[in-house]
Amino acid sequence: VDVNFHVERVLGNLFLLRVDDARVRFFEALWEIPEGVTYNAYLLTTEEGAVLFDGWKQEFSDAFVEALQRLIDPRDIRAVVTHHTEPDHSGTTGKLAEVAPRALFVGHPIAGRILRSHFGVERFKPLMDGEALELGGYRIRAVHTPWLHWPDSIVTSIEGEGVLLTCDVFGSYSIPPLFDDQADLAKLSRSIRKYIITVIGHYIDWIPKGIEKVSKAVGRPRIIAPGHGVVYRSNPQWVVEEYLRVASGQPVKGKVVLTGLTMYGNVGKAMETVREEMEANGWRAVYYGFNDKERPPISEVLTDASDAELLIIGTPVYEAQPHPIIDHLIKLIAAKLPHRKSMPILILASYGWSPGATGKHVSELLIKQGFSRVMIIDFEGAQLKPSIEDELQALIAR
Ligand SMILES: Cc1cc2nc3c(=O)[nH]c(=O)nc-3n(C[C@H](O)[C@H](O)[C@H](O)COP(=O)(O)O)c2cc1C
Ligand SMILES: [Fe+2]
Ligand SMILES: [Fe+2]
Repeated sequence: VDVNFHVERVLGNLFLLRVDDARVRFFEALWEIPEGVTYNAYLLTTEEGAVLFDGWKQEFSDAFVEALQRLIDPRDIRAVVTHHTEPDHSGTTGKLAEVAPRALFVGHPIAGRILRSHFGVERFKPLMDGEALELGGYRIRAVHTPWLHWPDSIVTSIEGEGVLLTCDVFGSYSIPPLFDDQADLAKLSRSIRKYIITVIGHYIDWIPKGIEKVSKAVGRPRIIAPGHGVVYRSNPQWVVEEYLRVASGQPVKGKVVLTGLTMYGNVGKAMETVREEMEANGWRAVYYGFNDKERPPISEVLTDASDAELLIIGTPVYEAQPHPIIDHLIKLIAAKLPHRKSMPILILASYGWSPGATGKHVSELLIKQGFSRVMIIDFEGAQLKPSIEDELQALIAR
């Protein structure tokens, strides 16, 4: 099988080892990413041996060893910094332990536990918040950044070099060029938003906290080297600001996301009417329709919902609940957009014989999670009222 990987100098003795995963279709077996993703490891060579930062997903283990061998004899790896033990970065650990028998693993104590239980790693030394690892004249300082994306997550700074290695933090989807100065920033911006919302969304409030902590601890980096996507060497501040903007939950003025599922056309027709009304009233509508022929990626629906001013969701009633796919979508909204709890959400539910059925269920999903501006309009069959303007005004005014 063909594996596309890159070994490229970042600066001085620091190298990027990146594999392009174009095979993955559902990141975390959940998020639709036809655009793929990259896993970035880094290697620092010193006079006393090499320091490896992270690794790749397990299925790329052989290619990973090949990439390492282009730079060094893997037996010369003295330390492996594990920023985060999620196996998209640590899946190669088993193979690595074989080819680098003298390497000592370092990371947050939680990483030590996970490396032992998942990969049988015995040679582990904790690297606590603020502590530094020293090797061959380099000092590598750790900053604990909990929940970005797991409790084990740290970032490290190579002191004096201005390089910040961040793993999931500042990551993005897609298979872009290697460096920010070669990339299409508009496309990258969308990949960043989609990545943050789907992967880190649940812990999004930790983004500003983490960024502030890191900048206090190690200052402004010259280079940001993340575990997914491009290396930021020309303008690292750009990705910092992108992250802060997504985390702020600041909506785009006038943007409404309409998404709905129809089995036999009633909800579909209602959504079409509502979309026309919204557009006539000056809203910019982004529409995702689910039906018996089309199933848009939920990863994209969530990405667009993350900066919408208003969200409208249509569903038929299905065994006294929202349709299972919409139920799933609503659960993910509650889980992944915790910073958008004040976004007005209007649910349009078409029923056959049981009015009010979805209300209780949706309340449990959203209102219980703290979403404060949720409204449900029930209607029988195809009989949605001709205008929802009054309800919308009331909802927005809440
Ligand atoms: C499998 C299935 C289950 C349904 N369950 C309910 C229900 O529990 N309560 C209800 O009032 N209507 C129920 N209905 C009726 C639909 O909610 C109603 O026909 C709706 O208008 C369908 O919208 P659609 O044409 O957009 O699919 C069900 C319909 C189907 C096909
Ligand atoms: Fe992760
Ligand atoms: Fe990751």
